[in-house]
Amino acid sequence: MSIKGLGISSQRANQIAPSGIRKFFDLIASTEGVISLGVGEPDYSTPWHIREAAIYSLEKGYTMYTSNAGMPELRRQLSGYLKDNFNLSYDPDTELLITVGVSEALDLATRALLDPGDEVIMPDPHYVSYDACVTLAGGTPIMVPTTEEGKFELSPAAVEAKITSKTKAILIGYPANPTGAVMSKEKLARLAEIARRHQLLVISDEIYGRLVYGVKHTCFATLPEMKESTILLGGFSKAYAMTGWRIGYAAASKEIIGTMAKIHQYTIMCAPTMAQVAAIEALKSGESDVVEMVEDYNRRRLVMVKGLKDIGLPCFEPKGAFYAFPSIKSTGMTSEEFAEKLLREEKVAVVPGNAFGQCGEGYIRCCYATSLAEIEEALLRMGRFIKKHKR
Ligand SMILES: Cc1ncc(COP(=O)(O)O)c(C=O)c1O
Repeated sequence: MSIKGLGISSQRANQIAPSGIRKFFDLIASTEGVISLGVGEPDYSTPWHIREAAIYSLEKGYTMYTSNAGMPELRRQLSGYLKDNFNLSYDPDTELLITVGVSEALDLATRALLDPGDEVIMPDPHYVSYDACVTLAGGTPIMVPTTEEGKFELSPAAVEAKITSKTKAILIGYPANPTGAVMSKEKLARLAEIARRHQLLVISDEIYGRLVYGVKHTCFATLPEMKESTILLGGFSKAYAMTGWRIGYAAASKEIIGTMAKIHQYTIMCAPTMAQVAAIEALKSGESDVVEMVEDYNRRRLVMVKGLKDIGLPCFEPKGAFYAFPSIKSTGMTSEEFAEKLLREEKVAVVPGNAFGQCGEGYIRCCYATSLAEIEEALLRMGRFIKKHKR
């Protein structure tokens, strides 16, 4: 169909493909008895005291819009959290914005910063929204390959080699989805030095910042002189098991937050009120829940990684998030073939690595935020599958 001889969809929308993850979920939904290692979300329900705070707010009738930037109390709590955890001082009135998840914050950040043709450097593989948001904002995503041998870290030298006169920003997300990689402080500091020298902004998606195992997460904005040029994105979805509440935040300079808030106010108005109340409770009293869940994810991580290696799939050791990213290259199948066959023959759902970029080809993403019993059963089925298709 066309209107005035033009296509219905805009050229920008046509430039992006449907998410490789979603496409796969449709397949899962139509298959019975599936064990899903596919969806990237905690299997926990949100801790009860957080749900209760939101329920109570509804009982009291807190059902109106909040301030565009988010409830002042939430911004105050968040400012305290960032100070206590990273020694970063953000003014709750001008430097914090409460968003509908990191998803909205990413969209706002790219739309606030980019003019047509501006380039944004990012790792490949990366979370599916990164290149899509940059493209939709009129920018050009520029990939820097990362490899298993290089621990899926972004090489500062490789980033510098991609910088042109059009480069506006570097977009990173560590701990990483889909690899589980955590970047060392030393490498991040070298990246910061490059960003500073070339006067680039850095969008740092730290949604998995709390989910690290035996290593320390470095918040990018804490690196020397980086606070002013970093847009720190964070959220509640993963650490507090709050994916469905749709709540996250951006922390940045007054100028950047002001521009993001302008777009937010015309498109979203404000994040859901009850979710904001829940987020206040999470920040006030959710710390022990996070610690408990992280310990549990770590147990599952160890079982998953060892299990994958035992069945013959070499697996990079993930130090963060809740994903294992084993290589399936020895099977001779593409990652899509592998995932589709595994789903059909053994009813185990994983995400093909190429959904996250070209460098994800030859890998699959297995989310271990599911019960140990399910992980063990999935590994059993995958072992049978590997044996059957051994070359
Ligand atoms: C790296 C990364 N960033 C952002 C998001 C979106 O998070 P939110 O639920 O806060 O929108 C996800 C969700 O899977 C993610 O993996």
